[in-house]
Amino acid sequence: MASPGATFGNGTIIMYRTHTCGELRIADKGKKVTLAGWVQKTRRLGGMTFIDLRDRYGITQLVVDASDAALQETVSALGREFVIQAEGEVIERQSKNAKMDTGEVEIRLESVTVLNKSVTPPFTIEEVSDGGEDLRAKYRYLDLRRPPLQRALALRHRLAQEVRGYLDRNGFMEIETPYLIKSTPEGARDFVVPSRMNPGQFYALPQSPQTFKQLLMVAGYDRYFQIVRCFRDEDLRADRQPEFTQIDCEMSFVEQEDVLNMFEGMMREMFRNALGVEIPSPLPRMTWYEAMDSYGSDKPDVRFGMKIHEVTELVKGHGFSVFDSAAYVGAIAVPGCAEYTRKQTDELTEWVKRPQVGAKGLVYVKCLADGTFKSSVDKFYSQQDLSSIAEGVSAREGDLILLLCGPKRKTQTQLGVLRIEMGGRLGFRDPKVFAPLWIVDFPLLEWSEEDGRFYAMHHPFTAPKPEHEQWFYSDRKEDLERVCANAYDFVLNGTELGGGSIRIHNAEMQKRMFEVLGIGEEEAEYKFGFIINAFKFGAPPHGGLAFGFDRVCALFGGQETIRDYIAFPKNNQGRDVMIDSPSCIDASQLDELHLDIRKQQ
Ligand code: AMO
Repeated sequence: MASPGATFGNGTIIMYRTHTCGELRIADKGKKVTLAGWVQKTRRLGGMTFIDLRDRYGITQLVVDASDAALQETVSALGREFVIQAEGEVIERQSKNAKMDTGEVEIRLESVTVLNKSVTPPFTIEEVSDGGEDLRAKYRYLDLRRPPLQRALALRHRLAQEVRGYLDRNGFMEIETPYLIKSTPEGARDFVVPSRMNPGQFYALPQSPQTFKQLLMVAGYDRYFQIVRCFRDEDLRADRQPEFTQIDCEMSFVEQEDVLNMFEGMMREMFRNALGVEIPSPLPRMTWYEAMDSYGSDKPDVRFGMKIHEVTELVKGHGFSVFDSAAYVGAIAVPGCAEYTRKQTDELTEWVKRPQVGAKGLVYVKCLADGTFKSSVDKFYSQQDLSSIAEGVSAREGDLILLLCGPKRKTQTQLGVLRIEMGGRLGFRDPKVFAPLWIVDFPLLEWSEEDGRFYAMHHPFTAPKPEHEQWFYSDRKEDLERVCANAYDFVLNGTELGGGSIRIHNAEMQKRMFEVLGIGEEEAEYKFGFIINAFKFGAPPHGGLAFGFDRVCALFGGQETIRDYIAFPKNNQGRDVMIDSPSCIDASQLDELHLDIRKQQ
């Protein structure tokens, strides 16, 4: 890393410091140096005073001799987080600290200047802090001084540079698109902004730059990218923020294969250059149907097996009415858990009944070490029956088979959640192991029983596969359900990192899409007239994708929560507790915006 300790690019000598707090080594012994940073800790030991001085590069120990009374007095007044400038000589440490990069040396202090005092910080600013999450969020700028957050933001910076470098070398242009726009069709709620100059009208903040990047393709900018903020008013989770960042990309004159190759290449470079990890070439691909059938998820974690097996036919006809009447029965074999006690299987049964999973109950079969079986439905199934179930699930001795039943996709999804839980409990989800893959061949449309209509599985600009077009123009629900899209997701360790598709580039097909989605001509014209119109002026074939940049950073850093990879994130209620936002605005501002606030009931 470049050191700010010596000179600026133009040759000016930096007055405040000669080195950073992470820089000095035993080879620097004897040098006179000046450091500047924050006092993390001071301690007295046998008449000597030791100070840990911190900046974003590391920590260096300063030491004041017992004999120097004047200096002893100055440093005794230093509090935590005081900003100081320290001058002295680099000496070899008596007791070395192998855990610190600077651990072989210390600075024998000759003078100290207090550049600024600090009130006592509300929590310790160290690798591990004693502050709770809320307190640290309120003082985010102090939390950001801590090494784990500094490492997180440094990784984010590194990855952004890798992305820009790769895409620039491959002919992509970085083009900004507006934030004050009209509703975008990504399926979440919009954040809206009232317009003072247009009374009663609102802008929407982009859920993604989807329509603009397609318009850039119409405009001939055939390789576009942007590292861009997106806004979605949706329920928040560990990997969701109301404002987040996408690596948003689009290309013209491409087919699915070109897009996958280009972005696989980008990911490969990011893994190699930021983590020193080689990912397989080419990356594995799995169809959406296979992912759902075998993993119960469209973002399968393939770091471990424990695949879902359908056993509907195997378990029917034995008098167990729950299975006899089920549309689908599926199972996973959990390795090494046959010895689960009654208490443990009861706990698992309660676990699958939680609303987050939503199963009605759980049946288990224990494959015991002596080759026999023990199950919660022993009275309906003989040893021979249980043995064929075990065979159907490829279970081995020592495995615990867990079975759920119900409607097919719903049950597979529940089994998928259970699989992830058991994988986690058994330590199969090591964050340092990376298993990326593409999920391809998504259905184009998703039927909602509740609303009695189709929704776009990705978004309404995604094109049907050319070989499925005849079904796309059919009016039969079964035909429309069969249509697949050239849509793809990049999945890593059970998280969807990115997704995209080959787009519709023809006005007629786009119209048909809106019709299938039950969006009337007038509504389509009002919401998306500009893009339907643009397609009439020679739109090239095009496609693209977007990666969730915060998720990429978090997973590369070995975390599932994206918050630490964002300098100033929101909490789970969508609040920024540091600046206390959202907040009320005063009456005159409301007036200017032509807004009235309804009284809360
Ligand atoms: P999609 O909606 O799949 O596609 O979003 C792309 C990626 O963005 C990330 N992401 C989020 N990250 C953090 N917080 C959120 N609230 C959040 N929502 C999404 C995910 C996701 O894979 N316009 C299309 C892309 C395209 O077709 O080119 C789009 O936005 O990692």
